[in-house]
Amino acid sequence: APSKPTKIILAGAPASGKGTQCERLTDTYGCVHLSTGDMLRAAVKAGTPLGKSASAAMDAGRLVPDEVVIGMIVERLGQADCAARGWLLDGFPRTGAQAAALDAAGVVPDAVLTLDVGVDTLVRRVTGRRSDPETGKVYHLEFAPPTDAAVAARLVTRSDDTEDKVRVRVAAFEEHAAAIAAQYPGMVRVDGERPVDAIAADIKGVVDAAMAQAQEGGGGR
Ligand code: AP5
Repeated sequence: APSKPTKIILAGAPASGKGTQCERLTDTYGCVHLSTGDMLRAAVKAGTPLGKSASAAMDAGRLVPDEVVIGMIVERLGQADCAARGWLLDGFPRTGAQAAALDAAGVVPDAVLTLDVGVDTLVRRVTGRRSDPETGKVYHLEFAPPTDAAVAARLVTRSDDTEDKVRVRVAAFEEHAAAIAAQYPGMVRVDGERPVDAIAADIKGVVDAAMAQAQEGGGGR
């Protein structure tokens, strides 16, 4: 039988490794990767009204207002590619109101996972993170350095990737963590303080089990 499109929510603190794992997940399941952070950064760069309304909060490490992000993501989930290929939400929902809005829009994930990473590791991951402006690929000076000297020479740092700002971002994450967990009682916690491959294997196990259950019980919808 053809497999059902996969619908996944991957939560976790800033720099817990969501984007890194999402790259693996889209390769495995072919679903559309929707990172609200990436979408907002693209809007800021393009200078759209949405980007203009989001940039001050993002630069300070604070959350962008719920209504801005909810409208953006609900519209995107309604597009044909998401229905056909399934989707992977990275960094959304981040508040109880965002989770409630998904629910109200009839958006129901097959699996919800969160990466558990302690704050000292988060700070080390944020301060060493660099990205390639040409490909968007994310590296880490210590944990995942580029092998190509030309790539190494053009790497850039995100403006919110400082130790001070990551602490603000972690506080925002912690403030809303309980509301997110309450909305998704079946949320699976994955230990994110391990090598990338070990984490990816655990996540795949959780998603495969959820999809097997959805195929059996869901009548293929
Ligand atoms: P967003 O872009 O979503 O940032 P974030 O949640 O802070 O997450 P990051 O992108 O920092 O990290 P990540 O978990 O993807 O980690 P990564 O894989 O890169 O949001 C930015 C801002 O936009 C927010 O502050 C807010 O203002 C706004 N925003 C976004 N969504 C919003 C929403 N829903 N509502 C309101 N506002 C919103 O990994 C980090 C580093 O560690 C990398 O260098 C990587 O190479 C390395 N690494 C990854 N995994 C491992 C590992 N296992 N071992 C060693 N190193 C690793």
